[in-house]
Amino acid sequence: METRVLPFNEDAIAEAARLILAGQPVAVATETVYGLAADATNAEAVARIYEAKGRPAFNPLIVHVPDFAEAEHIGRFDEEARALAEQHWPGPLTLVVPLNDGAPIAPLVTAGLPTIGLRVPAHPAMQALLHAAGRPLAAPSANASGAISPTRAEHVLKSLGGRIPLVVDAGPTERGLESTIVAATGGPLRLLRRGPIGVEAIENTGSSIEAPGQLASHYAPSKPLRLDAESATDGEYLIGFGSIAGDASLSPSGDLVEAAARLFDLLHQADASNHRRIAVAPVPNDGLGAAINDRLRRAATR
Ligand code: TXA
Ligand code: MG
Repeated sequence: METRVLPFNEDAIAEAARLILAGQPVAVATETVYGLAADATNAEAVARIYEAKGRPAFNPLIVHVPDFAEAEHIGRFDEEARALAEQHWPGPLTLVVPLNDGAPIAPLVTAGLPTIGLRVPAHPAMQALLHAAGRPLAAPSANASGAISPTRAEHVLKSLGGRIPLVVDAGPTERGLESTIVAATGGPLRLLRRGPIGVEAIENTGSSIEAPGQLASHYAPSKPLRLDAESATDGEYLIGFGSIAGDASLSPSGDLVEAAARLFDLLHQADASNHRRIAVAPVPNDGLGAAINDRLRRAATR
């Protein structure tokens, strides 16, 4: 299969919507990472996502909808979930809520769970595709299973080229980290994945962070990775931060927002370099730093 890359415009969205309605998965930019989108009401289309990614079938997918009204057709929102949705949608927050009986979602999407992850994305490309296709779109990150999440169209091509028909290229993603995931399925809210939206109130409940169905090595580059490195040792590509320059820096000024946006980019770069190993300078653990360190620890687990 030839993978076409079209710049984000009306024609590209029309072509992407045509493919989606024909049951094909299409890669498209969101504000977090590129997603591999397919019609969530069409089980075969969803199966093609798993096929293209080579993804373990037990990992449930996030469903993207254009607005809260559409989300309410699919999932049940209690007061707390509704408040979070009102505060953060459209944006990089996924809410896991009970799935409505009779919601037209292919069971493969939720991996058979009675709950569903829903997100209203802010990015104009994903929003345009949702409107053009007129279907809820299941979309995991657009990378082969176990590889780094793509923040540029070229990352998608490298990982899934030849396995999907189209990438809608809207340039590098703004956030560079996958969405924050919060479960609102009865009882206290639970933080399932750290991300761009800090949800301190939830973290302060002291509930433990879960990563359901998420492999520990999910974010692993192909090379060994060492954390908290003050300098490079033999054969290492050093990803710097702040005063540690390295071969390339997450943020020379120590800005965590910039570091988050560049994280996957630099992991890709380090992985593609001719160094045998990767080292990463210490990143402070506050704010977005906690999400960055969570990703780095996963990347180091292999
Ligand atoms: O920013 C993002 O969230 C990107 C963009 C494309 O939206 N998507 C993304 O999807 O990161 P993915 O499939 O790579 O990660 C989805 C995570 C998985 O860890 C999965 O286990 C969790 O969401 N998830 C989805 N539905 C769930 C559910 N019903 N219960 C618990 N966890 C769920
Ligand atoms: Mg992923």
